[in-house]
Amino acid sequence: MMRLGGNTFSDLCAKELELCGLREGEVVAVLTQGDERLDYADAFLSAAEGMGATAFHVRLPRQSSSLSGDSGSWTVGTTPLGDNRPAVEALKAADLVIDTMFLLFSKEQLEIQGAGARMLLCIEPIEHLVQLFPTRDQRERVEYGGELLGKASELRFTNRFGTDVSYRIGVYPVITEYGYTDQAGRWDHWPSGFLFTGGADDGVNGTVVIAPGDIIYPFKTYAQTPIHLRIESGRIVDIHGELDADLLRDYMASFEDEKAYGIAHIGWGLNEKARWSYLATDRRGLGMHGRSFYGNVLFSTGPNQEFGGTNDTQCHVDVPMRGCSLFLDEQPIVVDGDIAVEEMKAPGLVAAG
Ligand SMILES: [Fe+2]
Repeated sequence: MMRLGGNTFSDLCAKELELCGLREGEVVAVLTQGDERLDYADAFLSAAEGMGATAFHVRLPRQSSSLSGDSGSWTVGTTPLGDNRPAVEALKAADLVIDTMFLLFSKEQLEIQGAGARMLLCIEPIEHLVQLFPTRDQRERVEYGGELLGKASELRFTNRFGTDVSYRIGVYPVITEYGYTDQAGRWDHWPSGFLFTGGADDGVNGTVVIAPGDIIYPFKTYAQTPIHLRIESGRIVDIHGELDADLLRDYMASFEDEKAYGIAHIGWGLNEKARWSYLATDRRGLGMHGRSFYGNVLFSTGPNQEFGGTNDTQCHVDVPMRGCSLFLDEQPIVVDGDIAVEEMKAPGLVAAG
């Protein structure tokens, strides 16, 4: 069993389950697929049992798409759980479901949440889970941001490369991700540290210029050349630029799905422990260093059914962007890649030289 500074991964899972408010007598289900993350299942099951919960394991016989982005394409929303009704029913009976396969954007996830189960996604490499372990302080700052976002009707963000795009918001709920969940029916992702909402389906307009150094998931690369996206009424209508633009255009076209050009979630990162540069030397996992780093504006394209929309495309691209300024009804929230609101600032941040 992996040792982490004197603790086992199971000890760490126990700490995470504590943050999730796990109580004696509650039911914990761990979902895995194929032979993936069976060590995660073991760690969670023994942690849950140790805390007096009733724990069980739902293991699906086959794997879905390439979550790690190392081979094949990363598709979302359709998983092997979709045609396994008994497994869905078993998961609905739990108080807490640990998802190690990525159910986000699926109908089954919404059904399980609807049954009252709280859900925790846990797929990242163990080292990342340790480095970015969530805190109550992170929750407070993310929830503060959630309140600001929930009150606003327009979100606009810019960067010095020519981004200027506006989202009409307030149509869809705000989703907070602070890394754990203790509320019935609520989903979260260990470790996270960001928040987002979605623009109205036809309410996103303007230009996004993905700048050199911005991260493109699922490619897991830093853009080297600017990519210009023109967005009209919530649809990408033009992608131009150099090599990176060609790559993104071809990737999106490969899904042969008009819905791939929709606009997904929009928000910002607050996790001061996450590093923009991390991906340069560690490409494992989904990539939460890159998605969560402090002051990034996380722009994304594709599906929006995770917050109640109807776009169910399997083509999802996340783009954490640096150096942006983001405004809610003209109030500056992020300015040049730094958090501008006192209540959301990370404690003890040491500025880079
Ligand atoms: Fe995303």
